[in-house]
Amino acid sequence: MEIILSPSILSADFSELGEQVKEVAAAGAPWLHIDVMDGVFVPNISFGFPIISSIRTLTDIVFDVHLMITEPERYIERFLDAGADVLTFHAEATDKAEECIEMIKSRGKKAGLAISPNTPIDAVVPYLDRLDMVLCMTVEPGYGGQVYIKAVEEKITALRKLTGKDFNIQIDGGVNADNITEPVKAGANIIVAGSSVFKGSIIDNIKGLTAACAQL
Ligand code: DX5
Ligand code: ZN
Repeated sequence: MEIILSPSILSADFSELGEQVKEVAAAGAPWLHIDVMDGVFVPNISFGFPIISSIRTLTDIVFDVHLMITEPERYIERFLDAGADVLTFHAEATDKAEECIEMIKSRGKKAGLAISPNTPIDAVVPYLDRLDMVLCMTVEPGYGGQVYIKAVEEKITALRKLTGKDFNIQIDGGVNADNITEPVKAGANIIVAGSSVFKGSIIDNIKGLTAACAQL
């Protein structure tokens, strides 16, 4: 299965956000990961609609929007309006997962369901038929630059067994060129990387991460 890299702009230099987004696209990354945090579901606040709609004008790259917000059903329409192509919300953040998925799918967009490291895959299993992607967080959501939690690979292996080979399993948190191959071998095919892309040369980092996967 093709490995898709999704650089997370949470680690971008926001004074040069537009340029850096264009650089990610020019380097050939197929997706762009956009982390939205509300200070309630996670203890951090990032950015919202105006940032997403402004960078939407710059590129056609797939906007992979990761909502770390409580009761995401309140804002799904607006994130789709802002330009999300793939919209992912957390199973722990809502008791209306089914409605959220339908809201996204009825607009012709891709729906993802995320689980934090300690949430079992049982939280996503009932929705697999309607979902386009499951995100297994490999750090506690909230901050970039944390250490990769290897134990999550067991969940990835179990989930891949359940879904078969064509389903999208994303990982997010602590991934770099030295550890990227392990989750891919376990069955992840969409890889988010923040600090390991934006620290230093974006283009060299994207090449390095892509090359590490190409050897598999
Ligand atoms: C964390 C975010 C991640 C973050 C990853 O809550 O969901 O997308 O940007 O950053 P790194 O790759 O630095 O762990
Ligand atoms: Zn994320």
